[in-house]
Amino acid sequence: MRRPLTVLVLAAVVLAGCKRAPEPAAASTAVPDAAAGQATGAILLFSADTRGYLGPCGCSENMRGGIDRAAFEVQEARKGTLPVLYIDGGDSLFGEPTLKPAQVPQEERKAQALAESMKRMGLAVRATGELDDVRGVTFRQGLGLPELAPGTVKLLTAGARQVGVVAVPEAAQLAPLSAQARKEGADFVVALFHGTVEQAQAVADQPGLEADLILATHTATEFSGEEHKLVRSAVPVVGLQSKGRELLRVDLGYGPQKGRFSQVKGQGQTEGEVAALDQRMALLNKEINLPGIAPELQKLKQAKLEELVARKQKLLTEPAAAPAGTNSFSLRFLPLESSLPGQPEVQEVVKAYDRDVGQMNLAWAKEHGEDCPAPKKGEAAFVGTAACQECHAETMPLWEHSKHSHAWATLEEKGKQYHLNCVGCHVTGYEKPGGVCRLDKVAGRQGVGCESCHGPGSLHAEDPTPKNIVRNPGRELCVTCHNPENSPHFDYATYLPKILGPGHGQPAAKK
Ligand code: HEC
Ligand code: HEC
Ligand code: HEC
Ligand code: HEC
Repeated sequence: MRRPLTVLVLAAVVLAGCKRAPEPAAASTAVPDAAAGQATGAILLFSADTRGYLGPCGCSENMRGGIDRAAFEVQEARKGTLPVLYIDGGDSLFGEPTLKPAQVPQEERKAQALAESMKRMGLAVRATGELDDVRGVTFRQGLGLPELAPGTVKLLTAGARQVGVVAVPEAAQLAPLSAQARKEGADFVVALFHGTVEQAQAVADQPGLEADLILATHTATEFSGEEHKLVRSAVPVVGLQSKGRELLRVDLGYGPQKGRFSQVKGQGQTEGEVAALDQRMALLNKEINLPGIAPELQKLKQAKLEELVARKQKLLTEPAAAPAGTNSFSLRFLPLESSLPGQPEVQEVVKAYDRDVGQMNLAWAKEHGEDCPAPKKGEAAFVGTAACQECHAETMPLWEHSKHSHAWATLEEKGKQYHLNCVGCHVTGYEKPGGVCRLDKVAGRQGVGCESCHGPGSLHAEDPTPKNIVRNPGRELCVTCHNPENSPHFDYATYLPKILGPGHGQPAAKK
């Protein structure tokens, strides 16, 4: 018989962070094992499905994430007296299963930076998925991280108890591997399940399951990890917001006797408050990201948002209520809000990556770059915004004052104009005939030009008729760039009028 499952999908609101109160003085920051024997519990911190992200792109206000902020959270936890274990669930080193030759130098360098960061965070162990093996097993192993082969078990000492971590490659192996961990002496068994929350949910209620917690580490597609999930089955199943935007924190409380752990769920009051805050924060954040919002108003709302975030953070960082005399655990999601500080050493690792990668990519382009393919016969090519100017002079002022014309400059200001994971949406005609195919040849295609929306215009510019140019690209085209990650508040009806005006269509002209 299957028990009814409650799925709690908590909105992955993108929010500002908060100022943290100083931690109470730590009794010991030494090796966790020093506390063995007396420890009344332990803290486990998990990352998973990071998909090759060192941090968010900054395309919208208050974007979450950043390995330096994750490192900060781990460091803060270590200031307490309890042993802290940081564990990674895998699928973390690369963002795509296959790379084009031009991407190889950057993506390898990024994987190295992620590995270096995890080492500095004191990674205890990690599982691996196919997004870790994009450059082969030898490359991955060369990074020197403590890894758990699929189908194996590792016991970690967490003060007075042993935490058994199992890397479960498929559903059928969940029960036997969890049982094995228990047999080998694990007091608390965590299954790093290489699959989706739904796949884990299907096997989480089987009788006699020895796992205490299942972390589903693999989301099906690039955008299926936009929200975190918690399934309250017999054994709880957790899926994290992907791309390094949050950590899972598990607080273990130890009773005097060894024995199975039970989940503390009774924080209904806190959960209710957090949910109410989340709702208000989501609304504020949407308003803050409204295109064209007055800076004054934006500032006011941002201040209000940060106040709410601080309140939420206080609720989240209150010590977990562990009932005395029993073995218990509680689960919390720790969002890596944009105003959390970064851990300085890891910040340096990221900065070094940023510095190197632009130079590496530019050098690669000069040596191996290939021009865009010629258009097929009768097919139009991109010709650049300057070519439209001579006949559509009346349209130019509006576009020139829009953010689209500024999109390349935005990258330059950040020093990221040669980052391959940025240029695609900030230039015109990326990887298309007449567009941008190599980073050393971007001239004339910088920014989101006319043809980013109206399509390649070579035929139209030679022989202008309405038949050889797209008049209205429609919403579908906008969301190729304004996707749920980079433009989470995109709303066609709100955004469209902002790009139209005198000289360039009128919002009221069409539905
Ligand atoms: C998938 C397309 C896409 C990619 C890839 C992308 N961006 Fe963006 N970027 C956008 C969109 C769309 C916006 C506008 C979002 C909005 O206002 O809703 C934007 C806005 C920005 C802004 C804000 C500009 C402003 O006016 O405040 C910055 C900064 C930025 N991007 C930097 C980056 C960097 C750095 C990268 C690479 C790490 C990157 N972008 C990659 C689509 C993208
Ligand atoms: C040589 C002059 C010329 C150039 C260059 C030119 N256009 Fe046009 N364009 C026209 C004329 C003339 C029309 C109006 C056609 C009509 O309504 O008969 C037009 C119409 C359009 C329309 C409206 C189509 C419609 O269905 O109403 C769009 C969109 C457009 N042009 C975009 C562009 C873009 C983008 C470029 C640059 C790649 C460009 N044009 C370059 C002359 C030009
Ligand atoms: C080729 C990618 C791309 C396409 C296609 C695109 N945009 Fe954008 N859009 C961007 C980028 C990048 C920015 C941010 C530029 C910057 O500030 O540097 C942006 C910014 C904007 C902004 C300003 C947002 C703000 O916060 O002020 C609006 C409005 C907008 N886009 C509307 C649209 C609409 C409507 C469409 C479809 C008709 C569209 N965009 C298609 C990439 C794109
Ligand atoms: C972000 C997407 C986007 C960009 C960039 C953009 N347009 Fe448009 N354009 C549109 C949309 C949407 C319409 C409205 C279509 C409608 O309502 O029929 C439009 C309408 C037009 C029209 C027909 C209406 C009119 O006012 O004559 C012309 C011509 C045109 N654009 C030219 C240009 C030129 C030239 C540029 C570059 C300077 C440009 N557009 C940049 C999206 C864009």
